[in-house]
Amino acid sequence: MLPGEEIIHVLPQDYKVDGQAEIKAPIGMYGGRLEANFHVVVGQVSSIRNVGRCIKSAGLELSNITLEPLASSEAVLSQEEKEAGVALIDIGGGTTDLAIFKDGIIRHTSVIPFGGNVITEDIKEGCSIIEKQAELLKTKFGSAWPGENKENEIVSIPGLRGREPKEITLKNLSKIIHARVVEIIEQVYLEIKNYGHEETKKKLIAGIVLTGGGAELKHVKQLVEYITGMDTRIGYPNEHLAGSTDIDLSSPAYATAVGLLMKGLDKKSKNENVTVNSNVEYSKNNESDFRPKVDRKSIFEKWAEKFREFLDNAE
Ligand SMILES: Nc1ncnc2c1ncn2[C@@H]1O[C@H](COP(=O)(O)OP(=O)(O)OP(=O)(O)O)[C@@H](O)[C@H]1O
Ligand SMILES: [Mg+2]
Repeated sequence: MLPGEEIIHVLPQDYKVDGQAEIKAPIGMYGGRLEANFHVVVGQVSSIRNVGRCIKSAGLELSNITLEPLASSEAVLSQEEKEAGVALIDIGGGTTDLAIFKDGIIRHTSVIPFGGNVITEDIKEGCSIIEKQAELLKTKFGSAWPGENKENEIVSIPGLRGREPKEITLKNLSKIIHARVVEIIEQVYLEIKNYGHEETKKKLIAGIVLTGGGAELKHVKQLVEYITGMDTRIGYPNEHLAGSTDIDLSSPAYATAVGLLMKGLDKKSKNENVTVNSNVEYSKNNESDFRPKVDRKSIFEKWAEKFREFLDNAE
């Protein structure tokens, strides 16, 4: 770990009991030696503090830090997809985040420092217009597949202060967008290949799920399928929500926020069930089944905590 970094997540992958490898759930097994592989996520202490300050100044309390793609995956992925193997790609404003799941376990995470903002920047430069107009052009008329636009489709952008309006062909607009999206997706695909997707045992059968505001870009799904050759769908964060939800929540841009809320609620409900030694509650499910309702930390959670402390102190 480099100076100025802090551990955010310690995610167990698989275990070895007395040399026997690839064990997913060692609870209940006998053995003298237990080993494990962990996926460790680290972040810059200064960035974490800045996020903390933003949360505080918004009048909220920070309870935990979660890596963005992990929160998004909570909101948009199904358990079957995580079992089959899936790559979640969250195309945000500043970054594009990747989380790979296989056999129900998180296998790889990565953050690529480009997202929708850089596409807007390209349009601004390429068409010599202001950022607000570039963003509007991208979201209203933009497409990742220039072949879908005809040469005679033109948008007129009002000129600044008495200047002549600018005419931009949608084909050119899409060409600018296409070039940058290809670059971003190729980087993500390199990460997927580095994980080992081409090995039979590691194949991501459920393909790719695209989310984040960038997933709203027209024809982005088709382009991702074309570059990666993998089955792709758009992940909407209202998929796991009960009842009729606000229409806005169906936008992929809210995947992280919905995922964070789901994780927060889950943690809260777990905490509410925690009772400490002196205050053990008993739940009676049937006549013969009296069990203490103590929410104990599993040995692996304790392990993960110890490992995290060890790494924190290592530097
Ligand atoms: N209809 C659309 N077409 C194309 N791009 C869109 C559309 N709607 C939103 N975007 C882009 O999505 C990006 C914002 O996505 P999102 O809200 O997921 O980002 P964020 O989570 O705030 O950023 P980050 O993940 O980098 O922290 C912006 O670049 C925006 O231009
Ligand atoms: Mg985001």
